[in-house]
Amino acid sequence: MPALDQALRAALAHRQPLLGELHAQGSDCYRLFHGSQEGAGGLTLDRYGPQLLVQSFHHSLTRDELLPLVEQCRATLGAPLLLVYNDRSRGNSRIDRLDPVYRAEAEALDDLVGHEWGLAYRVRGRHAGQDPLLFLDLRNARGWVKAHSAGKRVLNLFAYTCGVGLAAAAGGAREVVNLDFAEGNLAVGRENGLLNPELPPMQFIQSDYFPAIRQLAGLPIAQRRGQQLPSYPRLAPRQFDLVFLDPPAWAKSAFGTVDLLRDYQSLLKPAILATAADGVLICCNNLAKVALADWREQVLRCAEKLGRPVRDCQVLAPAADFPSSDGQPPLKTLILRF
Ligand SMILES: C[S@@+](CC[C@H](N)C(=O)[O-])C[C@H]1O[C@@H](n2cnc3c(N)ncnc32)[C@H](O)[C@@H]1O
Repeated sequence: MPALDQALRAALAHRQPLLGELHAQGSDCYRLFHGSQEGAGGLTLDRYGPQLLVQSFHHSLTRDELLPLVEQCRATLGAPLLLVYNDRSRGNSRIDRLDPVYRAEAEALDDLVGHEWGLAYRVRGRHAGQDPLLFLDLRNARGWVKAHSAGKRVLNLFAYTCGVGLAAAAGGAREVVNLDFAEGNLAVGRENGLLNPELPPMQFIQSDYFPAIRQLAGLPIAQRRGQQLPSYPRLAPRQFDLVFLDPPAWAKSAFGTVDLLRDYQSLLKPAILATAADGVLICCNNLAKVALADWREQVLRCAEKLGRPVRDCQVLAPAADFPSSDGQPPLKTLILRF
């Protein structure tokens, strides 16, 4: 049997206990094969409800490599998963090739629904952005938020498709505010809200992070000399009981640069100030080259310097569908209690 098939067989066998748990808790979105750790760097297979999303980042898969993998997943899960193969190994590589296996069936590209922690999430195999609409390694963090949001005012920063906000709403939050500058991402967040009509409505703020969080934190908005800032929504200073900070690795805007390697502080500082005195801040760093111990120390030092020492700091790891042989997964999450 070719090495790739064998690697997938081992990965699926390894996940059997986890899959049982996930199905029991109402989740049908998870990673089936995490290539970098399971024998095929640059290849991932994810289940998103009825869909099997295969992504290759280094090399394209041939039809003869791809189809046995798909069959193995279908047979193991006993589900007729709809294949979407997104080859991200070349520029513009998601454009369909002539072979129908690369095009995906029309029903695989429909607007579908996946589930996590009993909640419904919009799933689209292909859309305007590169990444899937739900980041699966954040499942445990969403679960934590769902279990700890009752009665809380929750602020979801860099909200993307508002998965964390939805988990908070489902957990009984008193108020959920999702903040992101991309209207398209917030629009999926609104769809996610509509897919769960039993939940109270969430709020959405379309704004750049820097002016929004600085206003909430009661800090001035820095203006670079001679440069006119774009307009931004005005917000009154206020604090939240639970703040979730999960920024991208790097992004530049007129207001500042998100840079998880060189400057986590400028993101963290106002987020701490927008967290209530006895509140919780959950912060993430998804950059593989940042070591957990170093980053943790930086985070704790920043809080200390602000006069907001952390009473308790808990590390939350992704679930076993994101194995890491060295115990250092790229996504690091800290739960800080003040
Ligand atoms: C990696 S995603 C965050 C994942 C998200 N926390 C989740 O729960 O899935 C990055 C998000 O940050 C947003 N973003 C990037 N730079 C931003 C900025 N300066 N202000 C506001 N949003 C920003 C993007 O639009 C995108 O939705």
